[in-house]
Amino acid sequence: MSAQKIQIFDTTLRDGEQVPGCKLNMDEKLVIARQLELLGVDVIEAGFPVSSPGDFEAVKAIASQTKEATVCGLSRAVEEDIRVAADALMGARRPRIHTGIGTSDSHINFKLRSTQDKVLERAIAAVTLAKSFVEDVEFYAEDAGRTENEFLAKVCEAAVKAGATVLNIPDTTGYCLPEEYGAKIKYLYENVKGIDRVRLSTHCHNDLGLATANSIAGVVNGARQIECTINGVGERAGNTALEEVVMILRQHPYLNLDTNVNTKLLAETSSMVSHMMRMPVQPNKAIVGSNAFSHSSGIHQDGVIKHRETYEIIDPRDVGVSDSSIVLTARSGRAALAYRLQKIGYNFDKSTLDRAYASFLQVADRTKEVVDTDLHTLVEQENLVAAS
Ligand code: KIV
Ligand code: ZN
Repeated sequence: MSAQKIQIFDTTLRDGEQVPGCKLNMDEKLVIARQLELLGVDVIEAGFPVSSPGDFEAVKAIASQTKEATVCGLSRAVEEDIRVAADALMGARRPRIHTGIGTSDSHINFKLRSTQDKVLERAIAAVTLAKSFVEDVEFYAEDAGRTENEFLAKVCEAAVKAGATVLNIPDTTGYCLPEEYGAKIKYLYENVKGIDRVRLSTHCHNDLGLATANSIAGVVNGARQIECTINGVGERAGNTALEEVVMILRQHPYLNLDTNVNTKLLAETSSMVSHMMRMPVQPNKAIVGSNAFSHSSGIHQDGVIKHRETYEIIDPRDVGVSDSSIVLTARSGRAALAYRLQKIGYNFDKSTLDRAYASFLQVADRTKEVVDTDLHTLVEQENLVAAS
């Protein structure tokens, strides 16, 4: 049985770009949008058109250049937002308006200073208006993670009745535990009339480091779209990282869920976004960090040299990284040293390798990492002769 497709909704250009320091200019946004299409995402959230003339123009330009992916524009449940989003998306082949409102007590009482009944009315009005412009309307219930399930289901049902095609259930504050978030999605499946006509979407933030786990719990419980960003960039601690959810589904085929993403483009997309946003990727970041396929301890290096899968669950080439790397440090063993010496042309017998290793440890204790030029110097200084 072929795996069910999970749609990837990339919000790097909206939830990611709104982060301090991550601002992109128009050309950069267009380049990233093109790369996202190549990568194979299903939906590109291009921006929040009413927020500034620059964002409006960017959404408009992305809408007209994008060929296959759906292009989405964000709006609040506010008439002007929706009209402006519709205008920006006019040239899109597959336009989607993303509109919604806060549904948690915290948002209703303190942010909106409103009531549940009024929020319900505004949700219906927003979806109805958006639907008058485009067929594809996504409704978000902001802070759904902290919204009591019964009211959430009531708002979702009203949004479906008003014509929403996708229901986004954001864990806006990154509060939920995976079991709780998964149960919320399941509850909606079981309690919202008409849910079988629409697609449920996850949108998880990473305040407790659970965004990826929550998104996976969401799809395991029936959601069929994941909202995410490249490198997990996004408000505060960020959004779900696209590369993580895509690779989790790819590495666990028994879940029978997969995406259209060409994983071989993950590394290059990550570095493009990091470079353009001037937002470095932490070295130990899953999938795309510079250490994700590096091995530095002797025990691990010995294992990887003998058989890569002893310490790697992903073939680096599957995500566009040319090879695993064996990094030489004072924790490395003879196997790693011999392997790296061989790569630069030295094939030593056991006793020569022992001498090389003793001198290597002295260099390694003085530096963080021993590189190829250090190895050449070491071979010359010690007068080491390769085995014939
Ligand atoms: O985190 C959130 O709730 C959002 C919505 C605007 C979709 O980004
Ligand atoms: Zn968000």
